[in-house]
Amino acid sequence: MQMNFTQSATIFWAEKVMRKALNSSLNIQPIKQKVERKPKPDREYMLYMHVPFCHTFCPYCSFNKFHYEEKKAMQYFALLRHELRKVKAKGFDFKTLYVGGGTTLINEPELIKTLEYAKKLFSIKEVSCESDPNHIDPNSLRRFQGLIDRLSIGVQTFNDDILKKIARYHKFGSGQMLQEKLSKIGGILPTFSVDLIFNFPGQTEEMVLHDVLTSQALDIDQITTYPLMKSPLMRESIASAFGHEKDTNNEYKFYELIRGAMNDFRPINGWAFSRKQEQLSDEYVGSHSEYVGVGSGSFSFLDGTLYVNAFDLDKYMDKIANEENAIIAGCTFNHKDRVRYQFLTSLFDGMVQIETFNKALNTNLKRVLAKEIQMLRLAKAIEISDDVIVPTDFGNYVCTVLMKEFYMGMDKVRAMFRPTMGSEEIAVNQ
Ligand SMILES: C[S@@+](CC[C@H](N)C(=O)[O-])C[C@H]1O[C@@H](n2cnc3c(N)ncnc32)[C@H](O)[C@@H]1O
Ligand code: SF4
Repeated sequence: MQMNFTQSATIFWAEKVMRKALNSSLNIQPIKQKVERKPKPDREYMLYMHVPFCHTFCPYCSFNKFHYEEKKAMQYFALLRHELRKVKAKGFDFKTLYVGGGTTLINEPELIKTLEYAKKLFSIKEVSCESDPNHIDPNSLRRFQGLIDRLSIGVQTFNDDILKKIARYHKFGSGQMLQEKLSKIGGILPTFSVDLIFNFPGQTEEMVLHDVLTSQALDIDQITTYPLMKSPLMRESIASAFGHEKDTNNEYKFYELIRGAMNDFRPINGWAFSRKQEQLSDEYVGSHSEYVGVGSGSFSFLDGTLYVNAFDLDKYMDKIANEENAIIAGCTFNHKDRVRYQFLTSLFDGMVQIETFNKALNTNLKRVLAKEIQMLRLAKAIEISDDVIVPTDFGNYVCTVLMKEFYMGMDKVRAMFRPTMGSEEIAVNQ
């Protein structure tokens, strides 16, 4: 399916607005003074914990990661627990924890110890964790019963040609082997989710459909379908992975195809679908507007300020070991950018309740974002009734594009701190 003129114009406009907003609001500055992250009594926060190790790297992935060394990883996990203790001492409590990577289960005993510790410190009720397909052996997973509620497994695709191009065929197995691994885990943890990526160069409708239908035929509860994000940081390595493949953009066509093929799965946000009633969301930014990040390169978003923990592993570890704050940089969103950001994340999650939104942000949504709301309404991307704004089918796609832009914008922050650029002090001063 093709977009009509108004839809194309809306996407063009939305991307432009988002890029402009990110450019102005992601004005990251070094933080040299002591930062006091403190909880507010009436707020609910989510905890994000980053495990930045992988055995090998995939060409599309810009997440903060380092090559695995066991000794270093053990020191890292010990310091992560120390950072959790420090967060607790500030008075924070959390009901939900999201563990992201990297390869989160790369050192299972250390992860178990850290999850148990986090559960002892905080009132955590739900734990979501990412995994690659090499850490889903049923016997290993049983050790996480009672510790992980939702495991999202990075499949990306079941197509062998693409798996080879993205260097995952030899690492994690062929499409057939991935299916076999996934067929053995049903029921071990409460919720299993599969991550797929669509719009790879050269990918066809048949391939996308095959990925979606194969996932549905497995005993899994959720499917997340990410559009391929080609941030400037990864553009070259993606292009070289796909070589001569013509880079046609089929994003909207595939997005529509996926939504039409979801059968008994229903959307839980712009890109995730669930077979069940429970709604453990995969997006910590989407469902919890304020979060505390622990670990190297993690982000926290508190009261309109984005904080960045040290990306460099040694630097992060030195800081925590020396009782210093791991935060090295940050930026405060102005009121409009904050309203815009939270409007997007709520819309991405399926609905904005205007009165609740206004109270939470002490704002007047319809006035502050008058132009944006008018534009989205004219483009038939949102519907407004009484106190509620919901995205239409096309609006869901707009949200997905904007969320993708947001993630790629965060890569701008990662790019500033890439080890190849030299020390973080140099980078943040640029
Ligand atoms: C941080 S990764 C960790 C997954 C795990 N280490 C693995 O490789 O299976 C979480 C998910 O983000 C998605 N992802 C990572 N980079 C992406 C990109 N450039 N575009 C779209 N999705 C991406 C993938 O679907 C991946 O499974
Ligand atoms: S996709 Fe997973 S395994 Fe690949 S580099 Fe990213 S975090 Fe590591």
